[in-house]
Amino acid sequence: MNIAEAVQGRRSIRAFLDKAVDPAVLHRVIEAAQMAPSGYNFQPWEGVVVMGEALRTLSERMIAAEPQSPAEYQLVPKDLPQLYKDRRDSIVGPRMDAVGIARDDEEGRARLQARNFEFFGASAALFTFVPRVMGPPQWSDVGMWLQTIMLLLHGEGLGSCPQESLYVHGRLIKDFVGVDDDTHLFFCGLAIGHPDPEAPLNHFPRTRAAAGDVVRFIGEP
Ligand SMILES: Cc1cc2nc3c(=O)[nH]c(=O)nc-3n(C[C@H](O)[C@H](O)[C@H](O)COP(=O)(O)O)c2cc1C
Repeated sequence: MNIAEAVQGRRSIRAFLDKAVDPAVLHRVIEAAQMAPSGYNFQPWEGVVVMGEALRTLSERMIAAEPQSPAEYQLVPKDLPQLYKDRRDSIVGPRMDAVGIARDDEEGRARLQARNFEFFGASAALFTFVPRVMGPPQWSDVGMWLQTIMLLLHGEGLGSCPQESLYVHGRLIKDFVGVDDDTHLFFCGLAIGHPDPEAPLNHFPRTRAAAGDVVRFIGEP
């Protein structure tokens, strides 16, 4: 698989087979992803991989818990501009269509969203943390690291889904995996497993803005 194929072929996977991930593959991927770039080479990412029975226990605890207060961070900007509402809706609708939930079925939508807390049936998950001393530029570094991991997982035939929605249980996750809440923010989870090739949730269409709408070119070569 070349790089362009990997970028095109990766997608968020939200239905996994009941099949364990080989930890050796995860070690290999995480080792390779250490080459992700970061400003000042800070490498401000930290992670914990949870697998199997331990992941199921964490899932049960999250499902039983109330969302934390105050929130770990503000997930969605206040007064979200319409452009971003439209982009968000472009994913929510097709996702509901894929599993036959009517778009105005709020309960069905919530049920679908709650699958995040079961990691969509994945057998492993990576939880990522950022030292609290770090700011927005370093958060972007963590994103680059995560994308590197997602592409490498795809190259290994595995699927993944980044999961910011777990932020409602950031402190619970930190407590479970032994990360200090005083010094670290929970950023994002990453469900990892063998994709279910039949599941409609892994096949609905996603759209993107045209490159020309987001990047301008100036000058002649
Ligand atoms: C940082 C980050 C957090 C995300 N959090 C969630 C999440 O909590 N639950 C979920 O189902 N998808 C989540 N996603 C997946 C996005 O919905 C997805 O990347 C986007 O719709 C584009 O689809 P694609 O990844 O299939 O190309 C997240 C993606 C990113 C990059």
